[in-house]
Amino acid sequence: MKIDEVPSLAKKSRVAAHTHIKGLGLKESGEAAETAAGWIGQENAREACGLCADMIREKKMAGRALLMTGAPGTGKTALALGISQELGTRVPFCPMVGSEVYSSEIKKTEVLMENFRRAIGLRIKEVKEVYEGEVVEMTPEETESTSGGYGKVISHVVVGLKSVKGTKQLKLDPAIYEALQQEKVQTGDVIYIEANSGSVKRVGRCDAYATEFDLEAEEYVPLPKGDVHKRKEIVQDVTLHDLDAANAKPVGGHDIVAVMNQLSKGKKTEITEKLRHEINKVVNGYIDQGIAELVPGVLFIDEVHMLDIECFAYLNKALESSLAPIVILATNRGICTVKGTDIQAPHGIPTDLLDRLMIVRTMTYTVEEMVRILAVRAQVEGLDIDEESLAHLADVGDRTSLRHAMQLLSPAFVVAKTNGREKVVLADLQECEDLFIDAKASAKLLSEQADKYLA
Ligand SMILES: Nc1ncnc2c1ncn2[C@@H]1O[C@H](COP(=O)(O)OP(=O)(O)OP(=O)(O)O)[C@@H](O)[C@H]1O
Ligand SMILES: [Mg+2]
Repeated sequence: MKIDEVPSLAKKSRVAAHTHIKGLGLKESGEAAETAAGWIGQENAREACGLCADMIREKKMAGRALLMTGAPGTGKTALALGISQELGTRVPFCPMVGSEVYSSEIKKTEVLMENFRRAIGLRIKEVKEVYEGEVVEMTPEETESTSGGYGKVISHVVVGLKSVKGTKQLKLDPAIYEALQQEKVQTGDVIYIEANSGSVKRVGRCDAYATEFDLEAEEYVPLPKGDVHKRKEIVQDVTLHDLDAANAKPVGGHDIVAVMNQLSKGKKTEITEKLRHEINKVVNGYIDQGIAELVPGVLFIDEVHMLDIECFAYLNKALESSLAPIVILATNRGICTVKGTDIQAPHGIPTDLLDRLMIVRTMTYTVEEMVRILAVRAQVEGLDIDEESLAHLADVGDRTSLRHAMQLLSPAFVVAKTNGREKVVLADLQECEDLFIDAKASAKLLSEQADKYLA
């Protein structure tokens, strides 16, 4: 008898540049394991980042800044990603690229400010009167429209909620019916409705409906304990930017945001400095009363040499404010001019800002390390390659950059396939090398043939 293996139904996700990176790969002691979490080598930088992540978790690093420097393709962006994975979803992580500030619509400092506020979280604990339970019935009741016309309107909705202790039937306002629809509530879901504001929150699907075959990303929760009508501590995570945006846009709010909405009676469409100031005041009040807790997150600015002097001046100031996140910068530049000036400075960053930064250096890789990184990549991309080609590719990486070598992997595999092979061999690789050149080679060609191009 022949038994076929059933292929997994799980979809293959897209393989991106850093798909193989799964954290920082540190041991309990904080030391970097030589090969872990997709990382190979670069131990010092990983340990430094691990220390930072620890300090961030203990909230000892707010207002500080870290700079990652190193040659292209040595893992700076990957390290930042690793930090964000180590921190988990509870700490805000806002990545941006330096050149994002150059938008024609918004001021440069405005873009920076917005991202700063995206990186500061607020955990709000409130005890609220709620109705919580599994939805056992949801029936909208219709009546004839009073404003004429043929349509019917919903006069109220009857919702049955079940908890461990019993079941309650609620007759609710049509506005709540809308909220129920927005949250996509169905019978069998566990929800709670706030008694005061009427806002609806879907907690998850009742675990009575959990089946083995369900492939959906659904969160199953147990039937709520206690009565349906009760007082419940509700914890919410928002960022300062969420609060800004919720108050700037004229929309009916969500929970805490609804409270904050009292601030802006008028219909604003823009986040103004005044609005931010007022939100800060309210937030500080909440923190003093112990209702809210500040969670400083991470603002990661990649390619920081793209910022200009105006932005750097702003960064300097913003780092010193009381509501500042941890700022992580990354650059691959050596000594170059600071944008917007003609001053030469290390990394293209003004020296007074540099003075405030802790600097982490990423090392260039040895050929041996490159072989192993490339092997990991080949595995993640699901392609077969022989030892000889890997060694050759690592040599290419050594001459050009690790990134260029990585980028040759997929085309080489395609070439191998057209040549009728399932495994990449040296010949396929060499064919690819003739087709694609790296940045340095291109620059060299340009300077050699300068007279043939338009300048
Ligand atoms: N030590 C390592 N182990 C495994 N993969 C690595 C390692 N270092 C870098 N990589 C991978 O190499 C690629 C290039 O790294 P990354 O993009 O982080 O470089 P970078 O330092 O940000 O370069 P640039 O200065 O050009 O932005 C990425 O796919 C990254 O995941
Ligand atoms: Mg990068």
